[in-house]
Amino acid sequence: MTRLQCHTHYLFCLKIMRARDIIDRLLPKKQVLSPRQSASAFAPSNIALIKYWGKRDQVLNLPVTSSLSISLGDKGTYTDISLSDKGTHTACLNGQVLQRDGIFYRRLAQFLDLLRPDDTIYYHVDTRNNIPTAAGLASSASGFAALVKALNTLHQWQLSATQQSILARMGSGSACRSLWHGFVQWQCGERGDGMDCYAQPLTYQWSSLRFGLVVVSEQVKQVGSRDGMNHTVATSRLYQKWPYHVQQALLMMHKALNNKDFTLLGETAERNAVMLHQTMQDSRPPLVYSIAATVVSQDQVYQLRKAGVPVYFTQDAGPNIKLLFEVKDQSAVQRAFPQMQVVDPFVDPMDGKVAGNS
Ligand code: PMV
Repeated sequence: MTRLQCHTHYLFCLKIMRARDIIDRLLPKKQVLSPRQSASAFAPSNIALIKYWGKRDQVLNLPVTSSLSISLGDKGTYTDISLSDKGTHTACLNGQVLQRDGIFYRRLAQFLDLLRPDDTIYYHVDTRNNIPTAAGLASSASGFAALVKALNTLHQWQLSATQQSILARMGSGSACRSLWHGFVQWQCGERGDGMDCYAQPLTYQWSSLRFGLVVVSEQVKQVGSRDGMNHTVATSRLYQKWPYHVQQALLMMHKALNNKDFTLLGETAERNAVMLHQTMQDSRPPLVYSIAATVVSQDQVYQLRKAGVPVYFTQDAGPNIKLLFEVKDQSAVQRAFPQMQVVDPFVDPMDGKVAGNS
């Protein structure tokens, strides 16, 4: 083994031990011995309006700052899980069998190993995203949240949504926000064991709000969020300003939500995304997720605003952008972005009615 491989293996063992300790505290002491044959769950994708970027603990996925998101209604991940007698975990993503040496399979299998009640249990996981994977939206967030929900039903753990949020967070940080619909805040917490670090639903409703998904590139991103965050925290001088900026942005966002002030909501979300990408770009070597088409689309947003259409963008760890506007302006925005897919965040996947977190 090379030194790097030894270090990676050491980190992995450490992660298993610390994460296992937390999981043992969350899962029921006496497990139901005969789990159900199978279970299904849905979790919505979520888009952060105030982003999470940077971990205070790599192993437990504890963030440096809190963050605030909105879930995407009926857009997300459906997962079926059943016990497998194959002596290994097996998985399908959008109807394709996942290869055991693929990165997605390995992340999934490691997570299942952490959560399974004993080492003799294996699962078959069938997971489907109803949002284009290329949009960078069918991310790990809805996937890990749906997986935790399905496991909770399969093993009849009867965990609260908060406990499931803590478990989902260990799969992928932003997954802890995908347990709920509507606006959700992830509290960064202070404790070393992360027991105060979970997401919570916010009661604000905003049924006229819409998201527009603008795909400018279908290429798989070069740098994943985990590596991108670590690189930014380690090398970007601007990162020092990030926690203060987020604190202020959260205050502004709550004000916007309380007063249903769309301009404040849009400006706050867009500035947060711009600040995030400037902070990334200040890393050495620079971390740049935007491509030329991203900049062109952002400029189109500025031009639309100049022409009197209130529309704002946000951008995650990829080149594609997501537009924020109100339903009254949908046709004007759609004319400028004919390829845009519109999402109504307050549609409930179960019955098509407006969903909330009250
Ligand atoms: O949860 P991760 O590791 O996929 O990171 C998510 C990072 C961002 O999407 C850029 C921001 C966020 O808060 O979702």
